[in-house]
Amino acid sequence: STLTQDELKALVGRAALQYIEPGQIVGVGTGSTVNKFIDALASVKDRIRGAVSSSEASTARLRALGIEVWDANEVERLSVYVDGADEIDPRGCMIKGGGAALTREKIVAALADRFVCIADESKWVETLGRFPLPVEVIPMAAQQIARRFAALGGQARLRLKDGAPWVTDNGQHILDVSGLRITEPLAFESMVNDWPGVVTVGVFAHQKANVCLLGTAQGVRTVE
Ligand code: A5P
Repeated sequence: STLTQDELKALVGRAALQYIEPGQIVGVGTGSTVNKFIDALASVKDRIRGAVSSSEASTARLRALGIEVWDANEVERLSVYVDGADEIDPRGCMIKGGGAALTREKIVAALADRFVCIADESKWVETLGRFPLPVEVIPMAAQQIARRFAALGGQARLRLKDGAPWVTDNGQHILDVSGLRITEPLAFESMVNDWPGVVTVGVFAHQKANVCLLGTAQGVRTVE
């Protein structure tokens, strides 16, 4: 039988429970795959201390299922952070931010000893860049940042919602940059981080995945 994409997401969402240990506070990402993980986490909620969340959306879902949400400032380290990705390469470098939560995702990921990425196999790529790269920016810097991407061969578009700029959980805007081929993710992430007005670039190379649970027709493939 072939599994739907939704079933593949549920499969890897449940599989991520193997990285959760009793008494932990769990780092929780954002997106439709993570929503499956949150649902699975609810089944062990009496054995964990709670979660640090990467978005208002995940916070609402965690609380609705009775899982306590901690402020990131209340936590010094997390054992594990579980999140999805828009693209992941064989080294565990990712493009993230399709759900606009990239800044808080990177912050929570930076608290964790281990990043467990959960994704269906459509996210697997050899080279990052086919998925338009999300970049959270300070609104007054959007055009100059777009020109810097144009000089690299990228086309930056301001993300919109109902015709108006998309506003992130942090009150900033998102550029989606197509036409990039990111062959050196670490160097690329550092370069874009240096541009004035960039809040967060959606390349996760410094905060890459240590483990990827990939949902395939043959079941969960663990890539370490
Ligand atoms: C959220 O900002 C993103 O980084 C998500 O992790 C990414 O978009 C994956 O989402 P899905 O699990 O819905 O594909």
